[in-house]
Amino acid sequence: MKIVETKKAAREIIRKWKRRGLRIGLVPTMGYFHEGHLSLMDKCHELADKVAVSLFVNPAQFAPNEDLSSYPRDRERDLALADRHNVDLVFIPGDKEMYAPGHKTWVTVEGLTSEMCGRSRPTHFCGVATVVTKLFNIITPDVAVFGEKDFQQLQVIRRMTHDLDMPVEIVGHPIVREPDGLAMSSRNSYLSKEERRSALCLSQALDLAEHLVKQQGIRNCSDLRQALAEKIEAFPFAGIDYIFTGDPETLESQDTINNKLLVALAVFVGATRLIDNRVITLEADTK
Ligand code: PAF
Repeated sequence: MKIVETKKAAREIIRKWKRRGLRIGLVPTMGYFHEGHLSLMDKCHELADKVAVSLFVNPAQFAPNEDLSSYPRDRERDLALADRHNVDLVFIPGDKEMYAPGHKTWVTVEGLTSEMCGRSRPTHFCGVATVVTKLFNIITPDVAVFGEKDFQQLQVIRRMTHDLDMPVEIVGHPIVREPDGLAMSSRNSYLSKEERRSALCLSQALDLAEHLVKQQGIRNCSDLRQALAEKIEAFPFAGIDYIFTGDPETLESQDTINNKLLVALAVFVGATRLIDNRVITLEADTK
């Protein structure tokens, strides 16, 4: 496995692979790997001849009051895990390598970023879209794999690559969960033992949503959100940031449930903000 810290070194390796006609896959990450990240690397191997992983805690996607300085990092463990998953190249740049002094260019995706995490974290997706654009320009992947836990991020990146004619295929990969249902996240490491128990409010609320829609026939989104709020608020330490119900493609909120519904949640468990989501698909009407 090759480990490089500069754009120049990454580009040299990629150029050699491209000359051999190899298909390049990229898994962009902020490190502190868990099974979710590793499943993205494995998926990427199915889609490409060479797998590159970027490991960069992107300051541009954190607001000043957020957890940039405490974001968990473990470079040696991450490199060992990447190696075990047969990653071919790890690009691990420093802040100055990615954002040289005088950086003034930002990528904004409109519309899709106005609700959900975009409302709570207004500068977040501009930081994500900018760094992902830069990573695509450096690694020039044929395919890039992103986790569906960050559902809005995935749709924003799909929109961006389509709108800006970026020649890269975007593949989403399902959420990986702990045995009790908690979606894997690097931020789970912030949780105390008691908070970890309460963190189940997210996956349990999504189970309830699926039950209410599929078994109880609930079709009114406001009633659904009310039921989920009551479920979440029954857990100690849980504070709702948002409960979103809407269209999984456009990310527009919906009043009534049609055949596909995205339920997305952001909940503070203590001081830790966690997200989770589920797309609920109703059987096609055969009448
Ligand atoms: O999902 C993440 O870890 C980050 O938002 C990403 C896509 C690596 C950009 O920094």
